[in-house]
This record gives sequence, structure tokens and C-alpha cells, in this order.
Amino acid sequence: MGRAWAVVKLGGSAFTDKSKPFSLDRRALEMIGRALRKALSDCLEGIALIHGGGSFGHYVVSEHGGLSSRDAFCQTVFFMRELNQIVVETLILCGVPAVGIDTHAFVGRLEDMSRVVEAYMERGLVPVLYGDAFITAKGFEVLSGDFIAWRLARDLRARTLVFVTGVGGLLKDGEVVRRIRISEALKVVSSSRGYDVTGGMASKIAMGIDIAREIPRIHIVGKECLYQALCEEEPSCGTRLEP
Ligand SMILES: Nc1ncnc2c1ncn2[C@@H]1O[C@H](COP(=O)(O)OP(=O)(O)OP(=O)(O)O)[C@@H](O)[C@H]1O
Ligand SMILES: [Mg+2]
Repeated sequence: MGRAWAVVKLGGSAFTDKSKPFSLDRRALEMIGRALRKALSDCLEGIALIHGGGSFGHYVVSEHGGLSSRDAFCQTVFFMRELNQIVVETLILCGVPAVGIDTHAFVGRLEDMSRVVEAYMERGLVPVLYGDAFITAKGFEVLSGDFIAWRLARDLRARTLVFVTGVGGLLKDGEVVRRIRISEALKVVSSSRGYDVTGGMASKIAMGIDIAREIPRIHIVGKECLYQALCEEEPSCGTRLEP
């Protein structure tokens, strides 16, 4: 069945308040850190993490009205690295061997990312990438953490991909849907609360349409369900996305 590896996207909505610039919920991050720690000792051999921009990156890009200027690029990278340091510090304090990896440094060789991440995971480390400003042939762009998560899960042949968000899963009429096909899921999402420059929940799901069938388990959960999504065959919480 292959390696017991998981890719986890820590949504900025799970540990920041995206309607308040630079706000941070350290308790939420600690809860996530404890769940990751326990999953590594109970059921997983490796975890790769990607965190989102939350009230840091999304806010900075919105304030600049996009990423067209050098100022906007520098400041987005600066504040995302700051957030990455906070995430990594909290995870280390929770006993997770986390190592921050700068996404923007992969300019021109995005296809190398999974090999680099793999090298860390093979040594028992937990690489922590993030949604970031990125140089492309067209100019400066936002590289979404969700996009990185889908691609890494596919390229690393991870057993599980988990999106942790500020709500308990995919909501339909205010209730968490327990299982849904990815094409159906797209029909029930609306826009996000607060700043989001990468399209929120709708694009999170849309980005996986062609990749989902290559990943055995895909979950969207709240932080309290992270451990179950990683370690239990039938979690009693969150949403399981099916191809
Ligand atoms: N049908 C829905 N079900 C669940 N969440 C939804 C739905 N429609 C909109 N949302 C919003 O989408 C949010 C998750 O997407 P969003 O991009 O805002 O956060 P994130 O990806 O966790 O954060 P970041 O982009 O900073 O990593 C939820 O917290 C919720 O507010
Ligand atoms: Mg998002």
C-alpha cells in the first residue's frame, strides 16, 4: 500500500482571523501541533505541511491591490516568512520536528518541490511550506497553498490529504456534509469570510478536480478533527471528498 505519508494544508482560516489583519490564534495552532505529534507517533511515517496566508498574506496582498509591484512582492514574502516562523516555532514546541521551507525559492523549478520535500520527510522531518508570492514567466503571482497541497499529495503519493479550515468541513445548509463527490462539492460552496486573494473554498476544491482520483483519502476538517482524519479509517467528523 506504500508509505504512510500525509499532506496537510493548514488553512489560514483555522489559526488566524482572516477579517483582522495579523491576528493569530496560538491555541488553535497548539491544538493542531498536538494532533500532528500524536498522528506521527500513532499512525503516520511522514507529514508534509503547507500553511495558508490567513490574516497575514491575504491581507498584505489585498492592501496592495494585488502583487504587481516589487513592494507588494517583498512585503508579502516578508510577512509570510514571519507567519511561517510562528507556525514552525509552535509546532516544534509541540514536539513536531518542523522545518520551514520557502516556497518562493522554487522559482522556475516548481517540479523540484516534491523531491526536496521528500528528502526532508525521509529523514523524519516535517517540512512546512506556505502559500506565497511567486515569480512566473508572466510576472509576480500568488502561489496558493491549496494548489501546492494538491500537487504535493499527488507527487509524493501520499495516502491522505487533509485540508484544515476554520469550519468543521464542507457546509451545506449550515451542516457539515460527511461525504461528497468533488464535482458535487463545487456546487455548494460560496465565498469566504474576510480577506482571501486565492478564491477561498471554491478554488480550494476546483484545483483538485483532476488530481483527486490519484489520492486515496481526501478530507476537509476543522482542527478538532485533524487527528481522526489522519489516523482513523472512519472519522466521525469532517467531510470526505470523493473523486
Ligand atoms: N460551503 C462551504 N463550506 C465550508 N466553508 C465554506 C463554504 N463556503 C465558504 N466557506 C468558507 O471557506 C473558508 C475556507 O476557505 P478559505 O480560503 O477562506 O480559508 P483557508 O484556505 O483555510 O485559509 P488560507 O487561504 O489563508 O489558507 C471557510 O472557513 C468558510 O468561511
Ligand atoms: Mg484559502
